Order: sequence, then C-alpha cells, then structure tokens
Amino acid sequence: MHRSRVKVLVFGAGAMGSFFGGLLSKHHDVLLIGRSDHVKAIRAHGLRISGKTSMIARPEAATAVPSNARPDFVFITVKAYDTADAMSALEKLADRSIFVTLQNGLGNAETIAKTAHRVIAGTTTVGVMFVGPGEVRHGGIGDAVVGVWSHVGEKDLVRLRDVLAEAGIVVTVTSDIRSELWAKLVVNASINPLAAIAGIPNGRLVRDKRLAEVMDAICREAVAVAKAEGAKLDVEELRHRTAIVAKRTAANRGSMLQDLDRHRRTEIDAIVGPIVRSAAKHRIPVPLSQALYAVVRAREAAG
Ligand code: PAF
Repeated sequence: MHRSRVKVLVFGAGAMGSFFGGLLSKHHDVLLIGRSDHVKAIRAHGLRISGKTSMIARPEAATAVPSNARPDFVFITVKAYDTADAMSALEKLADRSIFVTLQNGLGNAETIAKTAHRVIAGTTTVGVMFVGPGEVRHGGIGDAVVGVWSHVGEKDLVRLRDVLAEAGIVVTVTSDIRSELWAKLVVNASINPLAAIAGIPNGRLVRDKRLAEVMDAICREAVAVAKAEGAKLDVEELRHRTAIVAKRTAANRGSMLQDLDRHRRTEIDAIVGPIVRSAAKHRIPVPLSQALYAVVRAREAAG
C-alpha cells in the first residue's frame, strides 16, 4: 500500500466531492474548492461526515484554485453540465496533475481530456447527500472502478487505487473503462430519474414490486442501447447490479432527487440523454427513457 502523502485538489465540494475529499484528508493533503458558505463552515468547524461514516474531517477549503496549487491528483466532482467550466478554472494544472473523474453521466472524461493531458476515468456507487454547509451524509456503501482514459500508466492507476483504499473506498481497476462507464450509466438511468419523479429513496425501487418492474424495464432498454454503442455488457448482470446498488443505497435520496428537491438543474442530459440520443441513432425503441427524460425536464422547468 502507498504510504507517502499525496496532494489532492477536489474541484466541486458538493456531496460527493466533500465526502471523497474528507475521507482522503485522513492521510493526505486535501484542498476542497467549493461554495463560500460550505468553505466557511469547513474552515470554522471541519467537515462533518454523518451516516454510515461518522467523522469530522479537516481538509483545507477555498472558493477558488490558489495560484500556487501543485496537486498530484485533481478530482473533478462538479455536476456533468459544469465540467467544461471547471476545466477553464483548472487550465494551469492541465499539464502537471492527473485528473480523475468519478462523475455521473457520459461525456465528462472527453470534456476533461480536451484540456488535461493525463486523465483517469471511473465510476462510483457510493451514495452521499449534502446536508448543509459543513456537513454531508454517507447514505449508501459503494465502491469505485477506475481505468485509463488518456496518458496514464498502470503505476498511476495503482497509486490512485491505493490512496482511495487507505481512505476506505474499495477500488477495482478495469482495462475497459468505456464499458464500465456505460454500465454505471445504465445503473444511474434505471435508478435516478424514477426515484426522483416518485420522490422516494433508492430502496423503495426494489421494495415496491410495481416500481421494481419499471426499473427493470428501464434497465433492459438502456442495456440494449449500450450494447449497440459497443459496450460489453450483460443484461442479467446489469439487472442484478442495479438492484444491488438500489439496496445498498436504500436510505439515500439519489442525486437527481436531491437536485429536484433543491430546485436545481439535474444531470438528466448526461444520464438519460445519451441513451435517448443513441437509441435514435440505432433505431432502438426506448419509450420509458424518453418518458423519464421528458418528465424530469418538465419538473426542472417547473422548479
Ligand atoms: O447519483 C446517485 O445518487 C448515485 O450514483 C447512486 C449510485 C444512484 C446512489 O444514489
């Protein structure tokens, strides 16, 4: 296991960024970049992580990237629609740091790699909620999968895996990150919009038989599209994986539901958008995904 301290900059201290940054700060030098009320609270009282993990973490926090920042790893944890803006703010680090994305949705790694040279892409099924300034809640145990996106070697992946493992996050390294990103997209597309529209935590999607059937049908639609895009996925494995993620994050209100609750823009375009668009390209019928896309968009507009 890697023992030397690494410098980590987390750009986007929302629920996921704060959680990862907080855990990593136990053993490493972490700087969280976030909104001013959250940053103020962390500076004054530390970052409280409650729920399945309970700790007060002491990462550094700031509202902008300091000009002397020299991180080994930059975690991009903003919402998918903010990735391009994040990269403008991080341009100076583009040639020196390794950029890591574990964000929801497709397209983030592509956007990051337009600016950054070395990129690791990945996925995580950890469930986290933003409670308020200075506090996040760990609502669902999950893991992470990472792989090479551009110009990183096995050594870099292993280093990242070990750094996350020390923080208590189980990480698998894959040689086919594109299929893994589609797999996570299928899980997100099956869970997030349905739970968001129903206004329920993830666990109800498996406990309520009617909803479970709908979730299953969405999953089948999404897998058909992913396969047409060249992802190596197995429908039975993905149905199983989706149900397991919903169970493990049973108490968690999914990120899309949290966004609707807070009247914020959702990641529907990065999560269900690629399915609807690719389905049209391959002439695959996806009525459920189309309906979810339209309804979430309408809820956003109403909010
Ligand atoms: O977006 C989310 O909320 C998460 O990716 C997941 C895994 C669905 C858990 O809530």
